Amino acid sequence: MTTRREHWDHAYGGAEDADLSWFEAEPRHSLDAILQKLPPGAAVVDIGGGTARLAEALLEAGRGPVTVLDLSREALRRAQDRLGERAAEVIWIAADITAWQPDRRYAVWHDRAVFHFLTDAKDRAAYVRTLDAALEPGGTAIIATFAADGPERCSGLPVRRYAPEQLAAELERLAPGVFTLTGAVRFTHVTPRGVEQKFQQSSFRKAG
Ligand SMILES: C[S@@+](CC[C@H](N)C(=O)[O-])C[C@H]1O[C@@H](n2cnc3c(N)ncnc32)[C@H](O)[C@@H]1O
Repeated sequence: MTTRREHWDHAYGGAEDADLSWFEAEPRHSLDAILQKLPPGAAVVDIGGGTARLAEALLEAGRGPVTVLDLSREALRRAQDRLGERAAEVIWIAADITAWQPDRRYAVWHDRAVFHFLTDAKDRAAYVRTLDAALEPGGTAIIATFAADGPERCSGLPVRRYAPEQLAAELERLAPGVFTLTGAVRFTHVTPRGVEQKFQQSSFRKAG
């Protein structure tokens, strides 16, 4: 059976960045939401960052320290190659988010299109435990998933789709009283093949 890591290494190994369905040239919604909540000098982690352009956009905005976590070593290698010397300005972590044990806290946690792959309740519980451990009190979690009317699969895998209220209810169920929904946007991502995908991006404040 293919492991999760093998699946993603294979997905990245077989295509140019610009051919990946989740590719976006400019991480506009992510960056807008992060810059609203991230004080200068405060730490941000991009969960399942893959080869996204977010890390360099944050560096260019003078923010950080920036950490990118992904279970695909192939994705991280490609992201590092693209950044060249600037790769040394980013902290790279190869880990599965359902097993990661953070050794510090972050002011902002960002996830674009990872949580929705967690179709197993145990994995969602592990994710939220890690989120709680990694985020500072008063910090912000920004989680983008396929919207309730979004696609049912991505990269050949089934996903769970969420409206912001459904995502908030799931976080509340798994960590009662910890995360408050503070804002949400809906947007349409157009894949490199021209397919429209409905997303929602929700921001949560951690109690503190
Ligand atoms: C759809 S891609 C999105 C990539 C990136 N966030 C972006 O917006 O371009 C999903 C990413 O999550 C990573 N991923 C999937 N499951 C993961 C897990 N359990 N732990 C860590 N990373 C994971 C994949 O390797 C991939 O890079």
